Amino acid sequence: MKIGPVTIPGRTFLAPLAGITNLPFRQLVKECGCAVVCTEMVSAKGLFYNSEKTGTLLRSNQAEKPLSVQIFGTEPDIMARAAATIEAMGVADILDINFGCSVKKIVKQGAGAALMQDMANSRAILQAVRKATTLAFTIKIRSGWDRSGAQAIHLAQIAQQEGVDAVTLHPRTASQGFTGAADWDLIRQLKEKISIPVIGNGDIQSVADAVDMMDQTGCDAVMIGRAAMTNPFILHQVESFLDHGSFQAVGITDIFRKMEQLICLYAAHFGEEPACRMLRGRLPWFVKGMPGCATFRRDLSQIPATAAALALIQDYEYRLTRYV
Ligand SMILES: Cc1cc2nc3c(=O)[nH]c(=O)nc-3n(C[C@H](O)[C@H](O)[C@H](O)COP(=O)(O)O)c2cc1C
Repeated sequence: MKIGPVTIPGRTFLAPLAGITNLPFRQLVKECGCAVVCTEMVSAKGLFYNSEKTGTLLRSNQAEKPLSVQIFGTEPDIMARAAATIEAMGVADILDINFGCSVKKIVKQGAGAALMQDMANSRAILQAVRKATTLAFTIKIRSGWDRSGAQAIHLAQIAQQEGVDAVTLHPRTASQGFTGAADWDLIRQLKEKISIPVIGNGDIQSVADAVDMMDQTGCDAVMIGRAAMTNPFILHQVESFLDHGSFQAVGITDIFRKMEQLICLYAAHFGEEPACRMLRGRLPWFVKGMPGCATFRRDLSQIPATAAALALIQDYEYRLTRYV
């Protein structure tokens, strides 16, 4: 599959996840195996004002390529300048615009899913950004602001007219947030209506779900978010199944090795103290549903240093593999 000038080496995308898909986590998932990783959303305004935090969000390395960088915002000229800045920095292969975030803080600014209420401004953003960059250009959308679903298809058609190279659809409305089920049939309908690639997203929790979504909708690739937070191998498992009809099961040991790796990557990337603080919320995802995970989470909330996190992991793994 090609997205604009970029050849995509597979059919799986790691979803942009604010606070999660930082460079260490992307590196971890990429090493497990996946086609494309995406940054968390980056404020176009932040880039415009050259904020340090925004710069940190754009740290990257060669090993994670091709990289998709997602921006959010509301004003066409600022979005266009952000796109040009990102291209000049040389970090991105794909530039993605967030039309789907339903979090209050973002929607209140008129960005994310709020853009789906204003097709004229959406078109102006797409035109301005397309003019500003030669990077592969994608958008990530929801079903729409309300329940009609027509907004997704209408916006995707506008995007195609304005030179966007692919569309990712998470088929829930903004007001749904993450409740209810993703309406995969809307992905199928969208695929019939546009000729640029469609990436299907929403509620893929297993390899079987990914294959079902592709079968039911005809989407060109799948994007996986929350399931990768507990199983970073899932995208690789999907790739394996699509290529060879089988995939390797992931054992407890595989997950624990990835947890250890993430601790080291976090410490190197963020520094010891911030890494420690962030990992307290991050590591429990990997052991969700395992026996004793609540105690592990509690003990983790008190770790003073990453060395203590590593020791806790070793102890928990020992207990699990001995008794399970
Ligand atoms: C913690 C969290 C952070 C997210 N951050 C972003 C984001 O920065 N940009 C974006 O387009 N979507 C974001 N999303 C939405 C996901 O990319 C994805 O569309 C959604 O989780 C549905 O896919 P899934 O069922 O595979 O998780 C976020 C979702 C979660 C749970």
